[in-house]
Amino acid sequence: MAAAPLPSKFTSCLFTLLLPVLLTEQVAVAAAESTSLSIGVNYGQIANNLPSPARVSWLLRSMRISKVKLYDADPNVLRAFLGTDVEFVVGIGNEAVPSMVNPAAAQAWLQQHLVPHLRAGAHITCITVGNEVFKGNDTALQAAVLPAMQSVHRALGTLGLQGRVNVTTAHSLDIMGVTYPPSTGTFHPAALGHLQQFLSFLSATRSPFLINCYPYFAYKAEPSRVPLEYVLFQPNAGVADPHTGLRYDNMLYAQVDAVYAAIQRLGYTDVEVKVSETGWPSRGDADEPGATPEYAGIYIRNLLQRIEMKQGTPLRPATPVDVYVFALFNENLKPGPASERNYGLFYPDGTPVYNVGLHGYLPPMLLSSDAAPQV
Ligand SMILES: *[C@@H]1O[C@H](CO)[C@@H](O)[C@H](O)[C@H]1NC(C)=O
Ligand SMILES: *[C@@H]1O[C@H](CO)[C@@H](O)[C@H](O)[C@H]1NC(C)=O
Repeated sequence: MAAAPLPSKFTSCLFTLLLPVLLTEQVAVAAAESTSLSIGVNYGQIANNLPSPARVSWLLRSMRISKVKLYDADPNVLRAFLGTDVEFVVGIGNEAVPSMVNPAAAQAWLQQHLVPHLRAGAHITCITVGNEVFKGNDTALQAAVLPAMQSVHRALGTLGLQGRVNVTTAHSLDIMGVTYPPSTGTFHPAALGHLQQFLSFLSATRSPFLINCYPYFAYKAEPSRVPLEYVLFQPNAGVADPHTGLRYDNMLYAQVDAVYAAIQRLGYTDVEVKVSETGWPSRGDADEPGATPEYAGIYIRNLLQRIEMKQGTPLRPATPVDVYVFALFNENLKPGPASERNYGLFYPDGTPVYNVGLHGYLPPMLLSSDAAPQV
């Protein structure tokens, strides 16, 4: 939602008037920021009713969230967070992936979407080249992902940014052929052909393997067979992996370890797995069991607790699971079943969809959108 532009004189006058208020609030936010949460959040914007990025910046900092993942490199968002400690994963959309194979195009993309923000002090730690490209059947796109990643990586080097920004892509869990028991984790045959070289790239560049994991999908598919406690991180006996003896009390960690096992099967032990998306919808269609605010609240609350404990998975107990929750807001323009539009922690007006103990503050519209620093 674009705020109506104000004449600049009026803006600066307003800014002066509001400055004392802002300063007080900034101190509060800064104090809170000293103990940032470990959990990250996906800031999706497939909606026509979201608050301005400047207001969202306040909201996130008031919750002490300092890791944000975008699906693009929206300059308005990156600018709105300048001067904060918030670090970003930015994305190159699937439609632009094939063109990135061309070195000049990759360099131009970075010059336009990354370099100005880094110069201005933005914290951008990772670029995802495409999202869930192995989920569909676009084989041309699938074949282009790795060359595009290599091209973007080389272009970073050319620009003197090598090592400063990771280059990877985010996979759907559909990339897996076998996920259970976790130790038997294996990639899907359709993706396997790409993954050897893909992992070789991630290992050589020390970049993470990103996976989008939704235990909710498993529950939705077979609610009578998948124990709710196991998907919601509630107390339960858990299940032991017969090959390793490791015990799993929740599905998310089992899925992550299945990915580690699949990666290891291809010969790599030094590639870190991160959960680039996970979440639970608070509403769904009649044929989407479990999509309720109650279950969504339990999932996110329990997830938060575990992530803040810096837990690792049974297979990698010393590596805290790195997670980006999907998503910050309900997104009213997302296609598909009703659940797709109801993954948000917040409604667009800043009210929480359910209570997980994250008390965010979305400032009123004028205050923040007009006082946002200009770059
Ligand atoms: C890919 O799948 C979509 C729908 O699932 C289908 O309409 C399309 O024809 C398929 N394309 C190819 C190249 O197989
Ligand atoms: C890149 O990813 C690796 C592996 O996950 C991580 O250790 C490193 O800190 C990341 N680099 C940046 C700049 O965030």
